[in-house]
Amino acid sequence: MERLLIKGGNSLSGKITCSGAKNAALPMIAATILCDEKVTLRNLPYLQDITTMFELLGSMGSEIMLDEKMDFTISSSNLKDIEARYELVKTMRASILVLGPLLAKYGRARIALPGGCAIGSRPVNYHLDALKELGAVINLRNGYIEASAKKLIAANIRFPNITVTGTENLMMAASLADGTTTLSNVAMEPEIVDLADMLNSMGAHVEGAGTDKMTIKGVKNLSGTVFDIPADRIEAGTYLVAAAVTKGNVTIDGIDPNRLMRVIDKLKNTGAEVEYENNSISLKMDLESPNPVDITTAPFPEFPTDMQAQFSVINAISNGTANIYETVFENRFMHILELNRMGCDIIVKGNHAFIKGVNSIYGAQVMATDLRASASLILAGLCANGETIVDRIYHIDRGYERIEEKLNYLGADIVRLPS
Ligand code: EPU
Repeated sequence: MERLLIKGGNSLSGKITCSGAKNAALPMIAATILCDEKVTLRNLPYLQDITTMFELLGSMGSEIMLDEKMDFTISSSNLKDIEARYELVKTMRASILVLGPLLAKYGRARIALPGGCAIGSRPVNYHLDALKELGAVINLRNGYIEASAKKLIAANIRFPNITVTGTENLMMAASLADGTTTLSNVAMEPEIVDLADMLNSMGAHVEGAGTDKMTIKGVKNLSGTVFDIPADRIEAGTYLVAAAVTKGNVTIDGIDPNRLMRVIDKLKNTGAEVEYENNSISLKMDLESPNPVDITTAPFPEFPTDMQAQFSVINAISNGTANIYETVFENRFMHILELNRMGCDIIVKGNHAFIKGVNSIYGAQVMATDLRASASLILAGLCANGETIVDRIYHIDRGYERIEEKLNYLGADIVRLPS
């Protein structure tokens, strides 16, 4: 297994461009199932999760073409198969995103039931219950979700709790349902708005994306489109934290700051100077050590759970104490044990982490457990004394495009060690 060797201590400076957002791209690739025409997606990030989603569509019969500009054109007309096999679903839970489109377009779907994962049990009951309200018949058999519907019929659906991919599945399904569906208590993440924009560019009628209630007027057919994947707010946030923990001065281009306002506010509270324009964010850290910041994660527009692990590192080297309260996932503190092996002083009790800042941390051999946990270990390695080796970096390759290349461009010293 490949590993990253990080020599800590370099201050990062310079400018990099944000890649396309993984969590916007995945539902958009699934949405190509909804139409018979070709869909071109531009600015797709080169990531393992994107490859897995293409593998899934390919296994069902989609044709995927890549042109010289690195734009992907997907043709999902006449799928031969409507099954997402366990081998793929177990490597990427977002495979569940093909359920809504398959049901809406082909009237059936067979999707392996995702199991637990490193950050929590992550059931899909909200997706299934909401699809049942659209008239789908759903059975769980032999570890698979078997769903069918002659025709999905519009309904007024209220999610019991906020779910991002659940909202996306229902947006896609309702776009081809008979009648007008309302979805309330929906996720308001920017990726929801992105998906609504894409669906509308295909001829759908999705209104209210970005608020807690959406109205979706079903149409008979959707057409092809050409769509640009917006920049990845979590990637941008991660590199801003890299600047904050290395006393750096970094600009991230291509990112709309409105997607990261809570993160920007918290970064300012650390004592960093943060400036932003329409499409870029800069961070300069002059303090010897950052001020601690309390964090409570919650769905957008609140502080994102996907930035929690990175802020654990800021707090771990801060000049005081901080509390982190993780409210979205029940088990998202796996990085803490590894950070403590690098000299951090963090106690976890349930969904709370109590962090006491230390003057310095040291390199160690650590193990990545999930995507954002891996990012936090790299950030810790950047500001640690000595060498850090991060093991199991396939987690990071799922969601950060060319991470060591981008960080090295800013002055880091990271080498990918072969397996
Ligand atoms: N939940 C249920 N039942 C459901 C759905 C969700 O109990 O049917 C629970 C989950 O277990 C969790 C909470 O509701 O405790 C929220 O989960 P949500 O469904 O919103 O998460 P998701 O859609 O599976 C997406 C992102 C995650 C991100 C979360 C929260 C994608 C592909 N994934 O996951 O991204 O953390 O929303 O913002 O969009 C990542 O990129 O590292 C990542 C994990």
